Amino acid sequence: MIKKLATVAIWCLGCVGAVCVSLSVKDTMRSLATKKGLETGVAVAVGDLSKDTHKNIILENSSIIVAENCMKWQYIHPRENTWNWKDTDRLVEFAEENGISVKFHTLFWHNQNSPFLSERWSRDKALSVMDNHISTVMERYKGRIKEYDVVNEAFEDNGSLRNTIWLKTVGEDYIEHAFTKAHECDPSAKLFLNDYSNETMGQTKADAMFNFVKKLKEKGVPIDGVGFQLHIDTAYGFDAEKIRKNVKRYEEIGVLVSFSEVDVRIPQRNYENHLAKQQKIYCELLKIAVEEPNVINFITWGFTDSQSWVPYTFPGKGHALPYDENLQPKPLYAEMLKVLK
Ligand code: XIL
Repeated sequence: MIKKLATVAIWCLGCVGAVCVSLSVKDTMRSLATKKGLETGVAVAVGDLSKDTHKNIILENSSIIVAENCMKWQYIHPRENTWNWKDTDRLVEFAEENGISVKFHTLFWHNQNSPFLSERWSRDKALSVMDNHISTVMERYKGRIKEYDVVNEAFEDNGSLRNTIWLKTVGEDYIEHAFTKAHECDPSAKLFLNDYSNETMGQTKADAMFNFVKKLKEKGVPIDGVGFQLHIDTAYGFDAEKIRKNVKRYEEIGVLVSFSEVDVRIPQRNYENHLAKQQKIYCELLKIAVEEPNVINFITWGFTDSQSWVPYTFPGKGHALPYDENLQPKPLYAEMLKVLK
């Protein structure tokens, strides 16, 4: 009898164990990264929020999201006195409903601008248009948008400042002006200077940007961090150690780093031959993001190859994201989860 009772007890314990295993919450990119103190996320096309499969992928992966397009001038501020809030409101509301943070991309850039912007404006006129853009956006979303790409792609590959409408009209101090005004409008927002090909220490553009940011900090300009877009091509060199060193030198001057637009493109032809290299790059980047305390987020530029900007921008290249064209996670995705575990 006693033996029988013991058998029943063991059987019951076994069941409880089985139930526990089957009920255990699924490990996701979001949950695992959150445990490590890292925000992960994706760039979102607002239309995706109405598609269940897309929405679920966004939810599983993101503690932060960024708009792929709808926050750019062309969409949000198409004429001097016309604002189009619909899509950004939608994205911010979706994020709030799901406990996700938002990154605004971007207040100033040389692309996707509105036709009313003019290179012939005086400095005063340009400054007043800048200020109005910053304050109208930031006051509307005060306390609701956590991070801003204040200026995007301000540098040329040779390290000089890009000759944008803002450089031409305002002059070299347009960047510090934008950060100062943005900080005034929402002191709690984290403010970033975002760019591409700026991740590898020792390269001209990366070093120029670092020196520029260091000077801004010394002057007391309220800049919180830099964004490394990390649009990587496996055909070019990739040096994880030099990227880590670059991250570390920003840490030394009290500057955060966002891995802000990650994708790793490979040739469309015989792409199978390039998957191992691609996987290694994704995992090494994620490892740096997890291990270096000043890297606060790891955001991919979209999530599925079926909607990536890569094939349109780099003909012959593609397959750059963690999910394939059928919205299935690729093998590299499981490897990334292992890095987080
Ligand atoms: C891209 C979008 O993905 C495209 O849909 C759009 O047509 C052009 O812009 N760096 C950036 C992003 O900072 O804003 C760009 O996004 C990709 C490169």
